Amino acid sequence: MAVRDILILPDKRLRQVSTPVVKIDAATRQLVEEMFETMYAAPGIGLAAIQIGEPKRIVTMDLAKKDDPKEPQVFINPELIDESKDQNIHEEGCLSIPEYYEDVSRPAQVKIRYLDLEGRQHEVNAGGLLATCIQHEIDHLNGVLFIDHISKLKRDRVIKKFTKAAKLGKLPGDRAAE
Ligand code: NI
Repeated sequence: MAVRDILILPDKRLRQVSTPVVKIDAATRQLVEEMFETMYAAPGIGLAAIQIGEPKRIVTMDLAKKDDPKEPQVFINPELIDESKDQNIHEEGCLSIPEYYEDVSRPAQVKIRYLDLEGRQHEVNAGGLLATCIQHEIDHLNGVLFIDHISKLKRDRVIKKFTKAAKLGKLPGDRAAE
């Protein structure tokens, strides 16, 4: 097990479309463990496998409040099978775009289908934070980032900032490295 490096904007691999998991085997379980370790260490509430450079349709999540017991959830090959017309606005962030937050509007309720680590299929109606988070993570599996849902002006600005920082070999706002 290991904490893996998280890909940061503008890493092109974040734009890759991930492929479905065909067989849930020991390698899958190992990857899921490393995703949880990486996500908890960050810390973050959700992670898609591509964020650690693995283009597989796997998402880990834990929406438990800070002082509550952990609630690890794994979604393999998650799909949106229905979404509400009404939208919810939620401030989003992303471990691949550190320290940047912006309001994003998405369907307030969604129905999702996915496999668990034992290969059992589930269908779940999600609202609130789960709805926001699973849509954000499924986007990652399709090479989409939450900044694609904000205005072009704001998106161009954040991409420019992270591209400049990457050239200098540091994160934006990382003053210790200056
Ligand atoms: Ni993200």
